[in-house]
Formats: sequence, structure tokens, C-alpha cells
Amino acid sequence: MTTSNVPVIAIDGPTASGKGTVAHRVAERLGFHYLDSGALYRLTALSALRSETALTDEHALSKLASGLHCSFSGDKIMLASEDVTHAIRAEEVGNTASKIAALPTLRQALYGLQLRFRMPPGLVADGRDMGSVIFPHAPLKVFLTATPEARAERRYKQLIEKGFSANMDDLLKDLWERDARDSSRAIAPLKPAEDAHLLDTSDMTADQAVEQVLQWYAQIKKH
Ligand code: DC
Repeated sequence: MTTSNVPVIAIDGPTASGKGTVAHRVAERLGFHYLDSGALYRLTALSALRSETALTDEHALSKLASGLHCSFSGDKIMLASEDVTHAIRAEEVGNTASKIAALPTLRQALYGLQLRFRMPPGLVADGRDMGSVIFPHAPLKVFLTATPEARAERRYKQLIEKGFSANMDDLLKDLWERDARDSSRAIAPLKPAEDAHLLDTSDMTADQAVEQVLQWYAQIKKH
């Protein structure tokens, strides 16, 4: 099997739309590999913050991205030999990731790395541009949405569970800003691929969303 025959399920959507949880569970259910592409932008952002690289220095930031020494094992994310699973989830890192994600050279630097996750028996890839740019021929593309309020509430719970402090008003403001930035950038903006299935998860549990994605995938496999 060449990698272009390896099935990909692309799950895109805005921040806190539930795509991480849904993509992870779908991958588990199918025994597929999982790509959290946002983590790559967050790892680059963390490296930039730590090295005090100017967020306007596209060349230096792209070098950080292409030289990322990261590995994913189970739920653990390593940067060189350090476990940064927790550190990359901080809001400051997420906001910085969103800012540097607008830089075309940086996106290009992460392109090849993302393709390498496509391995048998299959891949569930989660992000903003999985279906539109990175895996345009993915047999199933899903775009998750949810109201800003539902997403802010989810993000609030996630942060508190992970031991970060959080404030709903600030989160809602950050979320609007991040959506606007991710959707309006010139390159690979956050928008559903033309052939994506839209799924509004505002009133759905993660498991209901997982079942819907699995059902769509089963239908596709039949044809
Ligand atoms: O999914 P996340 O919140 O971990 O992603 C952090 C930021 O990274 C997000 O605000 C925009 C950027 N990103 C991107 O531009 N393209 C992707 N495929 C994934 C994330």
C-alpha cells in the first residue's frame, strides 16, 4: 500500500469545537493513527516564546518549525527530551500559535512533517486545513462547528481540568479574536473544504459526534 492509498479522515474546525476529542476517539475506534496538527503549531510557538524569537521574524520562526525535534507517543508530546504535553496547552501558547500560523513559510515548513503521519492502516487528522490543504483527497472530510458560547464553556472546563486558571469573559474574547485571525489569514484560512460534511456539535456530546463521523466513514467505505 503506498501512502496515497492510506485512508485519511480530516476533521477541521475552530478552536474548542471538540475536534481534538472527537478525532482522537474516532482514531481509537478505527485503530488509525492520529495527527494533532495544532500541536505542531503550538510546539513551534512554545519554542519561539522560550527563545524570545520576534513573532514578526518569519525566517527565524520557520527555521524553528522545520527544526522541531518532537515526538508523539500515546497522549504524550515531547519536545527534544522534555515532556511538554501540558505546557503547550497554555492559552498564551495557543494564541501565539494562531499568530504565527498566518506565516506562509512556517506553514510550508510544517507541511512535510504532517504528511509523514499518513501511515497504514489509516489516519485521522485534526486541524484547520486538513481537508482543504494538507490532505485534499481525504475520502472523508468533516468540519465541526459549535456556538462561541458552547466552545468557550468547553475551553473553560478543559483549562480548569488541566490546572490552568481561566475566566469566561477573557476566553470568549480570545476565542473571537482567534477565530477572526484563523479565518481571515491569506493562506490556508479556517473554512470548510467544499466537500466537507458540516457537524454542529453545540448540543451534542463528544460520543454522539464520534458516532456520526463513524457512520459517514462506514457509508464511504461501502462505495
Ligand atoms: O487546534 P489548536 O487550538 O491546538 O491550534 C492552535 C493554533 O494553531 C490555531 O489557533 C491555528 C493554528 N493551526 C493552524 O493554523 N492550522 C492547523 N492545521 C492547526 C492549527
